[in-house]
Amino acid sequence: MKFRTKSIHIGNECDPQTGAVVPPIHVASTYVQPGAGEWGEFDYSRSGNPTRKNLERTLAALESGHAALAFSSGMAATHAVTMLLQSGDHILAGSDIYGGTYRLLHKIVDRSNISVSLADSTQPARFAEAIRPNTKLIWLESPGNPLMSITDIAAIVQLAKEHHVIVAVDNTFATPALTRPLELGADVVMHSATKYIGGHSDALGGALIAKDQELFERLYFVQNATGAVLSPFESFLMSRGLKTLALRVEAQCATAMQLADWLAADPRIRRVLYPGIPSHPGHEIAARQMQGGFGAMLSFEVEGDYARTKQVAESTKLFQLAVSLGAVESLIEQPASMSHASYDAEDRAAHGITDGLIRLSVGLEAFDDLRDDLDQALGS
Ligand SMILES: Cc1ncc(COP(=O)(O)O)c(C=O)c1O
Repeated sequence: MKFRTKSIHIGNECDPQTGAVVPPIHVASTYVQPGAGEWGEFDYSRSGNPTRKNLERTLAALESGHAALAFSSGMAATHAVTMLLQSGDHILAGSDIYGGTYRLLHKIVDRSNISVSLADSTQPARFAEAIRPNTKLIWLESPGNPLMSITDIAAIVQLAKEHHVIVAVDNTFATPALTRPLELGADVVMHSATKYIGGHSDALGGALIAKDQELFERLYFVQNATGAVLSPFESFLMSRGLKTLALRVEAQCATAMQLADWLAADPRIRRVLYPGIPSHPGHEIAARQMQGGFGAMLSFEVEGDYARTKQVAESTKLFQLAVSLGAVESLIEQPASMSHASYDAEDRAAHGITDGLIRLSVGLEAFDDLRDDLDQALGS
């Protein structure tokens, strides 16, 4: 089955009892068992729920994984991966990662005597030098957030395998419609399903997709023991969102490309960060690694200071000033004061997240309307 067919048919089989083409939402928290000490497929909704399971089956199929787990948020999914580690272990993460992941690693996970360091994952050989004898987890994001850096996932995987390190990829920005990290050798994929998977800014969720049964079982144990599962209703919304994922992403990528070209030619803009632009340092890798588009996230720097940047971000009318991304409506934000405010100021500066940076999440509105909106916000 092709991607679009899988997204509609796997995990969405018609209800055998009623013939309903959309499976019902199962709200029960507990399930009657065949006998004392004898267990049916479902026993208690934290441990397993039919609606959540349907979503997990679709996600596993779309990411070419063995099995998936749906969580109450992207951060809960990320946290579950870190709970595979033990005191004394080390996590190596790419430097261009989501601010909340940075905060989780540096301010929560490190309390368990797990050390964390960041390195530039766009340079695989140099990144590999940052692997320590006690490194147990490598965390990657591509495109990175908010600089849209591109990491050669297959190259990092190859180096990590020599050190027996688990490679996890936050695939929120690319989505499986464009990149499937497990096919490139990664061990686990994480999603903030809140973004493109849900796609409509109306549900919070997360997911992990494991490459094999062994890793799946370890992650399932963590999820069941700690309890951050996705609710049945949110599971249904994510399943519904997935049916149009490929179509939405295709259209959003096309508009993002047009906007990037338009911004790159505008003298009011200092630089555009979008992997679809040939001058982007990761363009060649992205062209190979991302199939069918370069994503619908782009960042740019305006000419001017913090106040000027803030004023531009606050002046759009269609692009709404909000964090988050990946939905049908376009959003605008200033990473230094919003999505990446949880970075320490020096780390932010060291990683090139300047005060002049603006990040766009390109939605499904018409290109002309979005261009005109940015044009009026940039002023003369
Ligand atoms: C790339 C990325 N990863 C992870 C997360 C965290 O996901 P959630 O907000 O669903 O917990 C986000 C949220 O913005 C994100 O953008």
